Amino acid sequence: QIERTLVLVKPDGVARGLTGEVLRRIEAKGYRLVALELRQLDRETASRHYAEHEGKPFFEPLLEFITSGPIVAAVVEGQRVIEGFRSIAGATDPTVAAPGSIRGDLARDWGKKVIENIVHGSDSPESAEREIAIYFPSL
Ligand code: CMP
Repeated sequence: QIERTLVLVKPDGVARGLTGEVLRRIEAKGYRLVALELRQLDRETASRHYAEHEGKPFFEPLLEFITSGPIVAAVVEGQRVIEGFRSIAGATDPTVAAPGSIRGDLARDWGKKVIENIVHGSDSPESAEREIAIYFPSL
């Protein structure tokens, strides 16, 4: 059935000028953009998004990273788009992400405490609903 997912182009992606490339891949795959915004996250919003990682060693570095510069938030729609976007994004760890994927082609390990991997995509219908409400409460 038709799903929606929350996609972020993280600060590393925006800073490196890869926003267009990420959106191009999403649209070329055949998914549809239904909302799009460039914004600066504050700590509160970032902690809300990443609440499930609270207590993990990379939580603080993750908050620092995700608030370090503008991000692009998008809601993307399509048949099985949650799984489909995760597939075009590639594995979390860019060193092993498959070539052909966003992370496999465009990201690498910089030796930091947090993995900088250009994009985020919701991992389940429940996460998608929760995350879309954080970024686009009117949807
Ligand atoms: P994302 O899909 O946005 O969800 C949580 C983020 O935390 C993840 O992408 C990475 O940027 C980062 N992350 C996840 N696991 C680790 C880890 N083991 N070490 C460092 N950073 C991580």
